Amino acid sequence: MKAVYVREFAPFDQAEIVDIPNPEPGPGEVLIAVKAAEANFPDILVMEGKYQITPPLPFSPGKAAAGIVESTGGKVMSLKPGDRVAVQVEHGAYAEKLITSPATCYPMPDGMPFEDAAALGLVYQTSHFALAGRASIKPGDNVLVLGASGGIGVSSVQLAKALGAGVVIGGVLGAENATIAKATGADHTIDLGMENLRDGLRDQVREMTGGRGADIVIDPVGGAANAAALRAMAWSGRMVIIGFASGDIPMIKSNYLLVKNIAVSGLQWSDYRERDPAWVGRVQNEIFEFYSDGKLKPYISKIYPLEDYAKALMRLKTGQAQGKIILKMG
Ligand SMILES: NC(=O)c1ccc[n+]([C@@H]2O[C@H](COP(=O)([O-])OP(=O)(O)OC[C@H]3O[C@@H](n4cnc5c(N)ncnc54)[C@H](OP(=O)(O)O)[C@@H]3O)[C@@H](O)[C@H]2O)c1
Repeated sequence: MKAVYVREFAPFDQAEIVDIPNPEPGPGEVLIAVKAAEANFPDILVMEGKYQITPPLPFSPGKAAAGIVESTGGKVMSLKPGDRVAVQVEHGAYAEKLITSPATCYPMPDGMPFEDAAALGLVYQTSHFALAGRASIKPGDNVLVLGASGGIGVSSVQLAKALGAGVVIGGVLGAENATIAKATGADHTIDLGMENLRDGLRDQVREMTGGRGADIVIDPVGGAANAAALRAMAWSGRMVIIGFASGDIPMIKSNYLLVKNIAVSGLQWSDYRERDPAWVGRVQNEIFEFYSDGKLKPYISKIYPLEDYAKALMRLKTGQAQGKIILKMG
């Protein structure tokens, strides 16, 4: 099988494409013939040894895939060869074959393309846990999503709508990203590159929400946008910190939290995959149901062959990724 292989933690474009023997599933394991994998920003961090969790060397990166069960080891009752599944793993998706446990596999709806199933992986899971798990979204809540044309951004906008949000506002950089955020579901967009973002974001969010402000802020960006978003929140608002795509980890000013009864929480989605796989399974089913009901559709801006994984990750690294980038096998 072909695989992207990291032999030592180094700049991501130094990983190798190798041709190695297929792995064999042991008892309680399944072998997946991977058809598509999701390229994600954290994959870069993992490959460079900068992520919270780093696998033992050597390894293949990649946290979400979709494919076909090729064979099973002993003691596997829930899956059989030929089943089409989406897969969520800590690493290993950038390869033509993947060994995993059945608990990390989620049956795909009939007719769903593998690319879509892979794209409905890490970022949709993360956004669902942010909105429903951490922010306890209620019908009618107004939601501000930062980085709204990126992976987490598009999935958060779409899931906020599917989960019954009121006004959903996408914070973006530039007119092109505003067009994407609108086309993928945002009611309004705000340019995070504006002058005086501190006051401007608050004023525009208030105007778009009838003076109320954002009940929920989803923040995969950090930096100046985070500080401005905190000021744009409604009374008793909930902010969820997902990542720092701007490269700047913000210091939260606690006086805002006190004055408006605001709660700020962090989210490390992979913890749920380990600690509560049944919850992750229920969420994946709900995401697939929303897809089948036409309530969301991943926006895949680029598909690369596995061999071009570095081009895919470079787009993420340089902020040129819009929606999702997918790697295709074979
Ligand atoms: N906590 C978790 O469990 C979890 C799970 C998945 C991902 N993450 C993290 O979430 C973050 C985003 O991931 P992603 O997949 O959405 O990445 P992405 O597709 O690259 O999107 C990042 C977005 O952030 C925007 N952005 C970057 N710098 C900005 C700045 N200075 N001001 C405003 N916007 C800025 C980008 O806009 P432009 O394109 O306009 O620059 C882009 O829309 C990453 O840090 C990732 O590690 C965390």
